[in-house]
Formats: sequence, structure tokens, C-alpha cells
Amino acid sequence: MKQPITIALSKGRILKETLPLLEQADIRPAEDISKSRKLIFDTNHEHIKLLVIRATDVPTYVEYGAADMGVAGKDVLMEYGGTALYEPLDLNISRCRLMTAGMVNAEPVKGRLKVASKFVNVTKQYFAEKGVQVDIIKLYGAMELAPIMGLADRIVDIVDTGNTLRANGMEPLELIAPISTRLVVGKAAMKMKHAQIQPIIEQLGQAVKAEAE
Ligand code: ATP
Ligand code: PRP
Repeated sequence: MKQPITIALSKGRILKETLPLLEQADIRPAEDISKSRKLIFDTNHEHIKLLVIRATDVPTYVEYGAADMGVAGKDVLMEYGGTALYEPLDLNISRCRLMTAGMVNAEPVKGRLKVASKFVNVTKQYFAEKGVQVDIIKLYGAMELAPIMGLADRIVDIVDTGNTLRANGMEPLELIAPISTRLVVGKAAMKMKHAQIQPIIEQLGQAVKAEAE
């Protein structure tokens, strides 16, 4: 009998782009995820189950072995940090950039820079590496509002088209990292369930390649 495999998926934007890749890798949820309030889904394989959870919770589930594999944005993985997860595959979906941004024509900042972000750890590390002292203000969304209202001088956030920044009188400044969605695997799972996990990685790899062609 095959060992059971649980894959934790990030809900929202990433989920929409992950399902077609899973489908190409012959993994299909047994019911329509978008029409269900369930959090655990059976698939067309008796031994594979899908969890649909907040993106920020995916690394936690995988690190502690509550899920064997996961799908999450590199931004979320960078913020989570640590070395507990293998990252065998770039799924090449939900591509964007993690950047600093500020108001267009902002006055030079006197004193310590105030930076608002939900990526507190990444922000701390980025400015520390530049040798710039900053005060970090943790927010949970709508980072673009912070400089407008004088809460912060800069933000660290996801930029794709730049429309959100432009619409709020802001501009992108420095690139922190290019971002895409990654497949992650827990270290224990990789060891104990290698025979089941390896074919999934390979098939998803083929699906990513096919998308790029
Ligand atoms: P939550 O709802 O859990 O707070 P969220 O609002 O950040 O999370 P999404 O907006 O669905 O969730 O974004 C999920 C992931 O998609 C991000 O972690 C990032 O990797 C990527 N992403 C976010 N915004 C964009 C964008 N505008 N374009 C492309 N990819 C993006
Ligand atoms: C993301 C991100 C930015 C925006 C960037 O927000 O937080 O605000 O996309 O994309 P753009 O450069 O193409 O405008 P999202 O639309 O996911 O909303 P949310 O984070 O508030 O859920």
C-alpha cells in the first residue's frame, strides 16, 4: 500500500494557478474546491489529500509534518525563514517582485526611516544588510496607505504591474527579490516518504516545463 501524502495549498490567487498544474500532474480534487467550505479534500488518488489553508500557514504545516508537501510564494517562505523545508521546484506561477516603495517626490527623511510591511523579518534583514537603521511597523494589508497617512516613509510589499503603487501616488524603489510560487517538502517526509514524493515532484516538474513551452 502507498504511504499517505498530504499537500498543503495556499488559498486565493496561488490556488487558482496551482490547480491546473496539479491536474497536468494527474492530481485532481474529488470535488470543486471553490464551491466547498471544506479544508481537506480527497483526490483521484486514494493516498493523496489536499489541504487548502492561508499561504502564511503552509510552511508551518510542512515543517511540523502535518503536511508532507506544500505550495507557497517565495515571499512567504523568505518571511518564514529557517532551513526546515526543501524547495525542490519553482512552479513559475504568481510571479511578482518584493520591493521597497515610497511616495513620488518624497521629502528626504530626517532621522530613522520608518518602514511599514507585513514582511517584518525580510524587511529587518534587508535594511540590516545595507547597514541602514530603520523602525519597522507591522501591518497586515493595504501597506500603500501607510506613507499617505504619514505612518511610514517606505513600505516593503509585492509589486506586479505597479498599478497599486501608481494609484496611490507611490513608486517602486529597490528590488529585494524576484518572487514566484515554490513547491516545498518537509525534511522528515522527504526521507520517510521518498517513494511517493519523488514521482509527484517529477510530474509537477513536467507540468511546469509544459507550461513554459
Ligand atoms: P492572505 O489573504 O493570506 O493575507 P495574500 O492576500 O498575500 O494572503 P494573495 O494576494 O492570494 O494572498 O497572494 C498570494 C501570493 O501570491 C503572495 O504570497 C505572492 O507570492 C503572490 N502575489 C501577491 N500579489 C501578487 C500580484 N499582484 N501578482 C502576482 N503574484 C502576487
Ligand atoms: C497585492 C500586493 C499589492 C498588489 C501589487 O495585493 O499586496 O498591493 O498585489 O500588484 P500590482 O503591482 O499589480 O498592483 P492583492 O491584489 O493580492 O491584494 P491583497 O494583498 O490586499 O489581498
